[in-house]
Order: sequence, then C-alpha cells, then structure tokens
Amino acid sequence: MRFEVQESGSVELGLKTFFYIENSYMGSAVIEKFHDDIWHFNRLYIHKNLRGRGIGTALVNKTAAFCNENKVTLINVLNPYGDLQYEQLKHFYLKNGFSVGPIEGVLVILKAGDSLERFLPAFAYIRGA
Ligand SMILES: CC(C)(COP(=O)(O)OP(=O)(O)OC[C@H]1O[C@@H](n2cnc3c(N)ncnc32)[C@H](O)[C@@H]1OP(=O)(O)O)[C@@H](O)C(=O)NCCC(=O)NCCS
Repeated sequence: MRFEVQESGSVELGLKTFFYIENSYMGSAVIEKFHDDIWHFNRLYIHKNLRGRGIGTALVNKTAAFCNENKVTLINVLNPYGDLQYEQLKHFYLKNGFSVGPIEGVLVILKAGDSLERFLPAFAYIRGA
C-alpha cells in the first residue's frame, strides 16, 4: 500500500490529528487548541522501528500547513524523550516550518501579522505545565 496521511478533528473541535498509514498505523501528530487562536503541539510520535524514513517530516508538514491555512499559532515545547537530542529535534522542526520562540526550548508557527509578545503568557504557562 502506498502511504497516506489521514486526519481527524477540526478547528471547531479544537483538536486535530494526522495519522500516517502504510499498511497499518505508523505514527501520528496531535495538536490541540490552547486558547483562541493559540494551539499547542501535543504529540508527535513515530513507531520506534520506523523512524528515519521521512514519516515525521510528512506529519510535521501536514501540521504546519493546517496551521497556516487556518491562521492559528502553534506552540511546540521541545521534549527530547526519544532518540533525537535537543539540538537534533530543534533542527528538525526549524527546517519544517517552525521558528524560534521567545523562550529557549519553545518553537512556534506564528500566524501572519502576529507578534511573539502577544503569546508570552501562553508560552510561560505551557513551559511551566
Ligand atoms: C522525532 C521523530 C518524530 C522524528 O520522526 P522520523 O520519522 O524519524 O523523522 P524523519 O525521518 O522525517 O527525519 C526528520 C529529521 O530528523 C532528524 N533525524 C532523524 N533521525 C535522525 C538521527 N538518527 N540522527 C540525527 N538526526 C536525525 C534529521 O534532521 C531528519 O531530517 P533528514 O532526514 O533531512 O536528515 C521520531 O524520532 C520520534 O517519534 N521520536 C520520539 C518522540 C519525540 O521525540 N517526539 C518529539 C517531541 S518534541
């Protein structure tokens, strides 16, 4: 089977998930609404035996496109709990549509016209959560 990315959820629901399918489920990206147009990257996970094949990149690209299309800002707290070190994870997200946020360890997709400062309370909250 050729791979496909399936999705569920919506802006209205405040939850969006992208599933990478190739014969079976291989990984997913989950984002959820935090407050108004600010969303949080809740989870990105690729099955351990299937990493390094571009699946994470495909899911992050879908996620970034969703945020741009729906004009939401996405906050992503780097959490190196898998094989990738902090700097490798940062590099991975930066080359796939994220920018550096105002706090170390937080990357963002900022909707057009917004300023990072507007989201400082959310950054602080998520960072401390
Ligand atoms: C992070 C994760 C989602 C990446 O998924 P993936 O499918 O392996 O990613 P890709 O194959 O698309 O690789 C993306 C990039 O990650 C980096 N990368 C992947 N494997 C790597 C390795 N072994 N060493 C160094 N960098 C690596 C590279 O920058 C790579 O891009 P490149 O292929 O152009 O060099 C996956 O490792 C994972 O599920 N990890 C555990 C959960 C986790 O850490 N989630 C993120 C929390 S913030």
